[in-house]
Amino acid sequence: MNDDRWDAVDAYTTGLLQPADPVLEAAIRDSASLPNIAVSPAQGQFLNVLARAIRARRILEIGTLGGYSAIWMGRALPDDGRLISLELDEHHAEVARGNIARAGLDGKVEVRVGAALDSLATLRADRGEPFDLVFIDADKRNTPAYFSTAVELSHPGSLIVVDNVVRQGKLIDTGGDDPDAEGMRRLVEQMGADRRIAPAVIQTVGVKGWDGFAFALVVGP
Ligand code: SAH
Ligand code: DHB
Ligand code: MG
Repeated sequence: MNDDRWDAVDAYTTGLLQPADPVLEAAIRDSASLPNIAVSPAQGQFLNVLARAIRARRILEIGTLGGYSAIWMGRALPDDGRLISLELDEHHAEVARGNIARAGLDGKVEVRVGAALDSLATLRADRGEPFDLVFIDADKRNTPAYFSTAVELSHPGSLIVVDNVVRQGKLIDTGGDDPDAEGMRRLVEQMGADRRIAPAVIQTVGVKGWDGFAFALVVGP
């Protein structure tokens, strides 16, 4: 399901709200060998605004790809801010590091290669400062586990954002055997039962089709 008008509206609004951006355009160009699954320009700008709204100083991303969303969020960081992005694929990470360096963000944004479950276990063991913003956008079946750890790595006031929750409505196809949609169903159930967070799910349309984000504001320990 798609609609040309969704694309046209994205083109209209980003045409007015996003000046020409050679760094992001080069990041997209240099990601041509990677899957075409980065967030859209409108969604990237939204993540940037969210990060700035909560004055995020420490950001965790799960799923780097070519660094497109990392650049949008990294640009929201103050001088002493830091973004750690977790990526399984060494080639994706290499492309991302190049794009991040060209964006002048290599002092703030670090890409860590490995299975995110392992990297998250290391982050927990390190007992570093909690994250203000977590963006979960990697393999969908592990998303419930990523979400649990994200809450553990947060503080009251932190915001957790999950991409690709609605999946063209597959979220509610309970008869299906799509493990990605199943992962997102378990996520929403888990969020509904977690008293430490205030949840919301919002459907989206645009150049990435029909999908949606889940949000969780961490409210208690
Ligand atoms: N956030 C990016 C898009 C991420 S696409 C953007 O919007 O620009 C999802 C990424 O998650 C891919 O690069 C994929 O290699 C990575 N990934 C998949 N499984 C993973 C895992 N188990 N651990 C870490 N990263 C994983
Ligand atoms: C897929 C992953 C994403 O993060 C996304 O935004 C779109 C698609 C995928 O794995 O197909
Ligand atoms: Mg995604």
